[in-house]
Amino acid sequence: MHVPLILFSALLVFTVAHQKKFTVWRLQPTSTNQVELLKNLQLNDVKLDFWKSPSEAGKEVHVMVSDEKGPKFLEELDDHSITHSIMIDDVQKVIVEQKEKRDKLRKQVRLHDWREQKVQFNLAQYHSFADVINYLNSLAITYPELVSVQPIGTTHEGRQIPLIKITNKRNGGTKRGIWVDGGIHAREWVSPSTVLYFIHQLVTQYDKDAQIRQFVDQLEWYIVPLLNPDGYEYSRSSNDPEIRLWRKNRSPPKCIQQATGLFQPPTTTCCQGVDLNRNFDWFFGQVGSSTDPCSEIYQGAYAFSEPETAAVRDFVQRHRISTFLTFHSYSQILMYPFGHQVRTYSNDLNDLRSTALSAAQALNSVYNTQYKVGTGADTLYPASGGSEDWAKGKAHVKYSFLFELRPEEQVWDGFLLAENQIIPTARETWEAVKVIAAKTLELP
Ligand code: ARG
Ligand code: ZN
Repeated sequence: MHVPLILFSALLVFTVAHQKKFTVWRLQPTSTNQVELLKNLQLNDVKLDFWKSPSEAGKEVHVMVSDEKGPKFLEELDDHSITHSIMIDDVQKVIVEQKEKRDKLRKQVRLHDWREQKVQFNLAQYHSFADVINYLNSLAITYPELVSVQPIGTTHEGRQIPLIKITNKRNGGTKRGIWVDGGIHAREWVSPSTVLYFIHQLVTQYDKDAQIRQFVDQLEWYIVPLLNPDGYEYSRSSNDPEIRLWRKNRSPPKCIQQATGLFQPPTTTCCQGVDLNRNFDWFFGQVGSSTDPCSEIYQGAYAFSEPETAAVRDFVQRHRISTFLTFHSYSQILMYPFGHQVRTYSNDLNDLRSTALSAAQALNSVYNTQYKVGTGADTLYPASGGSEDWAKGKAHVKYSFLFELRPEEQVWDGFLLAENQIIPTARETWEAVKVIAAKTLELP
């Protein structure tokens, strides 16, 4: 072997050997001090990826840590006696296993009879953005009397964000609108899949189910299954945990300079992406968000700085929206406003709460899945700049809810929910959505 080749192979071995391993830890802080420590870690160390943020003593925290960071992190936990255990030992291993399982499933499905369907689309699988677009367009072609598809904005990477409108076009007049969005956070794959199931139900059950017919005759459904297509496609592009678990959009790099010490030049770090659910105009830039572009909860330069959030604002403001539903994962919580600080509610709290409780009960009746009901701040953690808060507080919709879908926090797979969970998740959630739609119809 000549020298460059040896060098090259050495480099290759080095890079392969140096692949980072990521572990998800489950932490149980029991004191305010421990919670404060974790909150500081979250703010100061952007390399720690919090799947579930610290909020208060007694509430679990989930965090993904690379093996480089691992020892120091564990030392820190031990120093503060924070109880911890492994939730996922090797994240990449799980990602690869799931991908292999999915590929096998795809081969099987092709042999079966999906051809019978006019519109071919397997709701039980995670799909690419291109597949979603094709599906929506084929619905518009197959069901022209109910469906139209339109873009509501263009992302940083040039993708058009599709909105599907479902209503009986033959009876006009002003109808109340229901907004539904999924996939605002890239890694929460079950969210767009669940929303696609709703679309399928509305369109295909119109002739078969009297209640659905009423929903489609008397309401206008404005549904955006994939609000953050750039982030979603990025999260699909690799098995690398740092990519599969991408949360934000893909806004262009922003750089910050950090002092490194006396007489030393500052270093510059550049990071991409804004947390879209911190970018709405509701207590923008306050608790639970960050000004650091490298943070997972980076709020952006100003409220509605991002094309995705601006598109939601413009569409919602220009239509008669009575109900605003936004879908995330995970934790199994149904939230009503306000989430920016604890114990803060709208003055029609009772209406929202009783509707949420009935919805959660309907959801529970399918597979006995338990949901918590409350504000984001009371049930999970306070976070400002959220869309459900903006919809209620600024756009004045009557019913505004955020769903955190499966799994519950005790289940180990979190964002890496297996494909066989899609249909059960969607089925039970649809029962909750129907309760809220029925309440919307009852509005004066
Ligand atoms: N998981 C969601 C997020 O981090 C929860 C947000 C709840 N809403 C709120 N306004 N706190 O964005
Ligand atoms: Zn989310």
